[in-house]
Amino acid sequence: MTTATTGTTAVTGAVGTAHTRVEGLAKVTGAARYAGEIPFAELAHGWLVLSTVARGRIRSVEDAPVRAMPGVLTVLHHGNAPRVDGDYVGMLGKPDPTVAVFQHDRVPYLGWPVALVVAETSEQAREAAEALVVRYDQEPHDVAFFAGRPGTYTPQTPGTETEKGDLEAELTASAVVVDAEYTTPEEHHSSMEPHAAMARWDSGRLEVVDSNQGSTWVAGELAKLFSLDPESVRVRSEHVGGAFGSKGVRPHQVLAVMAATVLHRPVRVVLTRRQMFSLVGYRSPTAQRVRLGADPDGRLRALDHQAQSLTSTVHEFVEPSASVARAMYDADAHHTVNQVVALDVPTPTWMRAPGEAPGSFALESALDELAEKCGLDPIALRTRNEPDAGPVSGLPFSSRNLLACFEEGARRFGWADRDPAPGLRREGRWLLGTGTAAASFPTMVMPSTAAVTAEADGTFTVRISAADVGTGARTALTLIAADALEVAPDRIRVRIADSDFGPAMIAGGSMGTRSWGWAVTAAVGELREQLALGGDIPPQGITARADTTEALGALPEKERHSFGAQFAEVAVDTTTGEIRVRRLLGIFAAGRIINPLTARSQFIGGMTWGLSMALHEEAVRDQASGGHVNADFAGYHFAAHADVPLIEADWVDDPDDDPVGIKGIGEIGIVGTAAAIANAVWHATGVRHRNLPIRPDRVL
Ligand code: MOS
Repeated sequence: MTTATTGTTAVTGAVGTAHTRVEGLAKVTGAARYAGEIPFAELAHGWLVLSTVARGRIRSVEDAPVRAMPGVLTVLHHGNAPRVDGDYVGMLGKPDPTVAVFQHDRVPYLGWPVALVVAETSEQAREAAEALVVRYDQEPHDVAFFAGRPGTYTPQTPGTETEKGDLEAELTASAVVVDAEYTTPEEHHSSMEPHAAMARWDSGRLEVVDSNQGSTWVAGELAKLFSLDPESVRVRSEHVGGAFGSKGVRPHQVLAVMAATVLHRPVRVVLTRRQMFSLVGYRSPTAQRVRLGADPDGRLRALDHQAQSLTSTVHEFVEPSASVARAMYDADAHHTVNQVVALDVPTPTWMRAPGEAPGSFALESALDELAEKCGLDPIALRTRNEPDAGPVSGLPFSSRNLLACFEEGARRFGWADRDPAPGLRREGRWLLGTGTAAASFPTMVMPSTAAVTAEADGTFTVRISAADVGTGARTALTLIAADALEVAPDRIRVRIADSDFGPAMIAGGSMGTRSWGWAVTAAVGELREQLALGGDIPPQGITARADTTEALGALPEKERHSFGAQFAEVAVDTTTGEIRVRRLLGIFAAGRIINPLTARSQFIGGMTWGLSMALHEEAVRDQASGGHVNADFAGYHFAAHADVPLIEADWVDDPDDDPVGIKGIGEIGIVGTAAAIANAVWHATGVRHRNLPIRPDRVL
């Protein structure tokens, strides 16, 4: 037995220095296993069958011929599936009823789950699923989304609309007015690893091996859905090949549990790429109107941001695109509203920077248009409108270093040399331009629990139900624990993504590292108090736990956000309409940066997605069938390596006033990128592009 030492080694400074991912070797050598590839004895395979009509009722599922096919074990559908409690309220409110699969014969959109074929092998399940005949009584559907379409309403949810001052009066009194409409298309989650879950019953406990953003969350939802004691459900999700909003509770986990229950053996359900387009959520298309009124010097008198998005007929999800204006710019009269219309389409969901990503495209494009009309540099316009306090809340900012981001970014990008006149710079067939935009994302935090064990061998084990969706969260928590314990990171082992570790925040809303880091730091504090009492470490170690619920309750109410400045240089081929982004630079003020290596990856990952949003991504819905025409990687374009130029991301000091100082960096990288690119395209060509993506046919 050894005596645990923490202070004696006095190693600090892990936080803030670059560390490769602690699980990096396992990932690149294939030792890390993902939910779809972990072997289990007696494993059966489920293959989903989705509706081929956009609205109606299932008349019949003709499963008899399919049941006779090789290897088929069962066919589940609304006529025979276990009943579930679809009316429960989950961790994040009432879930999309799509998860209560096979409970009735109604079909609310094309791609709705109608049957699951389970077979001995995945290939047998697929063959039978593709042979299954389902008959429908079809009804007329409506999937057409456009600005101001009939049926658009303002949801009765707090925070939907904000209002200050007399908007119309201020607009009338403004010397300069911008009134413009912007649209963004339906955009899809396309994580490298499709959704996959294995479920089995083991000694009276339900065990699910999954790919998700929060194992405690998924376990809790499954317990409610199947009316189980929460203690009897264990969900694990050790490695996740991408998420950013789509990997919560989805039909595949529920189906795996249903089939495992019926068949008394382990069952895995893996979604196909094409199925993901209707089953895991997506970013709603948006139609936005921004009205800005200003004095001749650019000071804003009026700011109006109205955003419309769509939802399904079965669940209300609102893309809050107008909300970004509430933190960014003040005006004598200020109005924001997020409206929605229910159509015969799948329910949208969170997707990296929900609201801020499309909202910043509209708002930051409009600011650029205002700068042009006022004859002001776009950065000078933003400097003139920098608020002292929250424009809508009136609360002080915990820290706001937006202007520091612009100063540093302008210096590194070479902004000072820029001729503001559009359409002047030519290089052969190419017109060249540069653009900028601001970014912000809220800094939030949620209660979490963590446990830290001082092991008898002098190492430490951290247990927390965090999720590492590829962000490097596991490594960040290792560094946070190392500094809190004052030991080298190689003495720490961090175990995550197991619901048995207790409640913790999901990987979402850029809140993961802040929420988990807080809990881990608190647990280390407890442990150090226990170790200070002295004595030997018993073989089972000494474990301390923490729950941050109370500490977070004491946090003063403030405007808490990350900020950033995005810069883009583009070349536009006026003969083909092709746009090449030549340079992107993002400078962020995002609190304390835990691991510069993975932080940079998060920023440039977000910026790459923003580039993709600006130029490529667009899911096209066929009005006649109600389904997509491009639900695969052949038709749904996104930025490939050749589209991604030199991207630089860096940050400025951004000390904050709370005990952890972490602001979260997962989402802000995508915010403002599309606007910076669109503004650069205007600077190159003299033409404003208010509809994304800026496709070649729109440029010509
Ligand atoms: Mo999210 S959109 O899962 O941070």
